[in-house]
Amino acid sequence: MADSEGNTDAKTYGIGVPIPNPVYALKGSNSLEWGMKDRLSRVFDRKSGNTVMLAFDHGYIMGPTSGLERIDITILPIVEYADCLMCTRGVLRAAIPPIYNKPISLRVSAGSTVLTELNDEVIGVDVEDAIRLNASLMAVMVSVGGKYEALTVSNLCQAVSEGTRFGIPTLGVTAVGKELTRDARYLSMASRVCAENGAHVVKTYFCEEGFETVTATCPVPIVIAGGKKVPEKDALTIAWKAIDQGAFGVDMGRNVFQADDPTAMIQAVRAVVHDRETPDKAFQLYRDLKAH
Ligand code: R5P
Repeated sequence: MADSEGNTDAKTYGIGVPIPNPVYALKGSNSLEWGMKDRLSRVFDRKSGNTVMLAFDHGYIMGPTSGLERIDITILPIVEYADCLMCTRGVLRAAIPPIYNKPISLRVSAGSTVLTELNDEVIGVDVEDAIRLNASLMAVMVSVGGKYEALTVSNLCQAVSEGTRFGIPTLGVTAVGKELTRDARYLSMASRVCAENGAHVVKTYFCEEGFETVTATCPVPIVIAGGKKVPEKDALTIAWKAIDQGAFGVDMGRNVFQADDPTAMIQAVRAVVHDRETPDKAFQLYRDLKAH
């Protein structure tokens, strides 16, 4: 307890010195409440403004995905290099010891698997459990243009409303059905729909033509999914182009944990996302780290 006697007189009044009122720099986030900003600040690096999210939530629709058979063997050794972990509550509780203090992007939508019809989802995790798990983001799949469009948009709205009550931001994850093209026109539409419905961050795919229009028309930060496994240099090139064209980072899974050397790969991705290293330099870093 503070003493009531013997205190020195206060003298740091700073008369005439305006109290700073800094703008919260993350795209579209300045008007959010303190708790939301605090959680987003845990996800996005203070210096670069970007994030390397490690996605390993694939099992919720795909079961034991290649590279994720044993989370302890493939994911735990690379957790330290991730800025944020994107996973389900099941794997988080069962396989990730609560010692890393990494922000969590918690998958809260759930439903059909690859064995039936994709994208028929509900909100499967309530906000109380997201709080219990200290989630920094709640991730919801949204299938714009798909059969379950209205349902999945409604899931997003539900997560945004519940998260807003407790200061937890929502990540809108744009799904791409087999019938939909991953071009800039579609990805702009899907990303904007997520943002308009309140998503604080949007995860979508990179496209070779016109990706800068996807980021330009989305009023909140976009992070890109890695997509299916491609050669390491190609994945680094995709990450570089995405950052160069306005993305705020990656939420990458298979191109990290299915790489020949996941530890080297996630460090090479960090070099691109945080240090803006070219794909050539980042790939050389990957090879050097892999060799040791
Ligand atoms: C898919 O089930 C999840 O949303 C993944 O988190 C997402 O697809 C990112 O992983 P990847 O980089 O493997 O595409």
